[in-house]
Amino acid sequence: MGGGNVVCSAFKFQSGQMIVVALLLMVGCFYAGTLFGNNAPIYASQLSTSSSSSPGTSTFTNKVALTYRKTPLLIPETGMDVCPLTYNEYIPCHDVSYVKTLLPNLDTSRKEELERHCPPIEKRLFCLVPPSRDYKIPIRWPTSRDYVWRSNVNHTHLAEVKGGQNWVHEKDQLWWFPGGGTHFKHGAAEYIQRLGDMITNGTGDLCSAGVTQVLDVGCGVASFSAFLLPLGIQTMSFAPKDGHENQIQFALERGIGAMISAIATKQMPYPTGSFQMVHCSRCRVDWHENDGILLKEMNRLLRYNGYFVYSAPPAYKTTKNYPLIWEKLMNLTSAMCWKLIARKVQTAIWIKQDDLSCLQHNSEQKLINLCDAVDDSESSWSTPLKNCIQVRGAQTDSPKLSSRSERLSIYTESLSRIGVTQEEFTSETIFWQDQVRHYWRLLNVSKTEIRNVMDMNAFCGGFAVALNASPTWVMNIVPSSMKNTLSAIYNRGLIGAFHDWCEPFSTYPRTYDLLHANHLFPHYKSRGEGCLLEDILLEMDRIIRPQGFIVIRDDKTITSRIQDLAPKFLWEVESHLLENKEKKTETVLICRKKFWAIV
Ligand SMILES: *[C@@H]1O[C@H](CO)[C@@H](O)[C@H](O)[C@H]1NC(C)=O
Ligand SMILES: *[C@@H]1O[C@H](CO)[C@@H](O)[C@H](O)[C@H]1NC(C)=O
Ligand SMILES: *[C@@H]1O[C@H](CO)[C@@H](O)[C@H](O)[C@H]1NC(C)=O
Ligand SMILES: *[C@@H]1O[C@H](CO)[C@@H](O)[C@H](O)[C@H]1NC(C)=O
Repeated sequence: MGGGNVVCSAFKFQSGQMIVVALLLMVGCFYAGTLFGNNAPIYASQLSTSSSSSPGTSTFTNKVALTYRKTPLLIPETGMDVCPLTYNEYIPCHDVSYVKTLLPNLDTSRKEELERHCPPIEKRLFCLVPPSRDYKIPIRWPTSRDYVWRSNVNHTHLAEVKGGQNWVHEKDQLWWFPGGGTHFKHGAAEYIQRLGDMITNGTGDLCSAGVTQVLDVGCGVASFSAFLLPLGIQTMSFAPKDGHENQIQFALERGIGAMISAIATKQMPYPTGSFQMVHCSRCRVDWHENDGILLKEMNRLLRYNGYFVYSAPPAYKTTKNYPLIWEKLMNLTSAMCWKLIARKVQTAIWIKQDDLSCLQHNSEQKLINLCDAVDDSESSWSTPLKNCIQVRGAQTDSPKLSSRSERLSIYTESLSRIGVTQEEFTSETIFWQDQVRHYWRLLNVSKTEIRNVMDMNAFCGGFAVALNASPTWVMNIVPSSMKNTLSAIYNRGLIGAFHDWCEPFSTYPRTYDLLHANHLFPHYKSRGEGCLLEDILLEMDRIIRPQGFIVIRDDKTITSRIQDLAPKFLWEVESHLLENKEKKTETVLICRKKFWAIV
């Protein structure tokens, strides 16, 4: 595709330049010891009662105390309590000690323990998660692709185990990511080039092969994703929170889109037919087990003519039981009507064919089960895996994806089915272009300060589209109880996930620079304990970085409550007025999390 190629090379050029500039800057600053940003907490916090101090240093009345959520909810007069320092990596729904108590009832043969398990609310902490000792404001993109502060992710396990595989090395106060991975010791860029060669038979790269969105299973430190960016390819990377590897924490600290997730017993929180490629490089998933049920989930997520890339020993080793596993994989994939298109070096690639008669034939032969008709307007959230193959019905349309700018503005059939008209879609797109301009003015910071962005109620992704020209990536969240607009977001070439804000999100603390909550709270008004306004604010505080921004637009009754609460969460808050879609004025709060620390 000629157009595609032009887009591909434009991206390459831009990001190459940015990286050169940033590296030069870095060399200059290195020995001065001021590698970007303000790296001392502005508010050297006492976090205890302290008498008057010199102007410029604030003291807080908040107390350090291990506090659990009580019913009814109670915020102390002194402000939210601060959790003890040991909780600086607290992820409520991936808390090892809580999961241990559930183990007798979990199906460990299917790795159910790696999935989300949210504690009942009385077992949730109700205190602000503190930064780790010596935490520094993260290094900015694009330098962060290669360097992050050591003290921000103080875990040596990955460097020790994976040092020889060139994932990550220690360099004084920094972690250095040379761009390796288990399967690409010589760098992700070369590996990506090889995959492109295999798919196009040596005539092009992944971009020209039409790959725009990738699901990276067991992503490591997400170097694969980092090196797909120059090709204009968006990647959703995930890995479980297992052992002491902190893969996702590294990825997000680098400024690469990723979330904690595991494929075990439930569907992944992404819509059907979203990715042109699923990538597994030694991802430690047993695809051949359980009748290939996990592979069938990948089949659900892949678009037609999408690729399954598998770089793992069964693809190339003839020792142990690898040949048997390979045979099982071949049987399963051919039953699903996937076609092996390349098998070279250490990688095998299948394509998911659009071949209904093949599926019907295999179903008659009892090689495969076809699913009953599925309603794609529902979100895949806490849905058990299905041991069947979904066939294309009237319900699935995957548009031929064209150039990036065309894609960003594509209106798809799936929207009309859930009642979003073309006009609404277009005016929504224009509206957010305007709003984002206002936001930049109100935030009053350099665009390079903001990299990891989450739109907590993304609707059709208009906000993310408007940020497209900025050096950001956006996690678009569609609440699971709303209509599935996430399919449309994926059709626009963007990424995101379903989520229920009655539960904490599957990410580490301090992973986003900006959270956007557009009319989110009214949706959770009558959902009961666990998703009261304060609960959601606490979760927002957990996942936002120090000095990160929280932009909230909502009804006056809600914004005025948040204005009162913000100081108790140690947020600065400004109130502004902007026009809403109906051209009426609406309150927009710009909150900023203070950089505080336990001293
Ligand atoms: C990092 O971890 C090591 C060992 O776990 C510990 O000795 C060290 O004090 C930690 N550093 C910081 C800054 O927390
Ligand atoms: C790749 O090229 C070889 C030899 O030129 C040819 O036999 C093969 O069919 C091609 N494969 C694809 C997928 O085009
Ligand atoms: C693969 O399928 C063939 C033909 O149906 C069958 O004979 C063989 O046992 C299968 N292999 C495995 C490992 O299941
Ligand atoms: C914007 O930031 C600059 C420098 O940080 C500051 O001098 C200026 O007053 C700010 N403008 C507004 C409107 O807050």
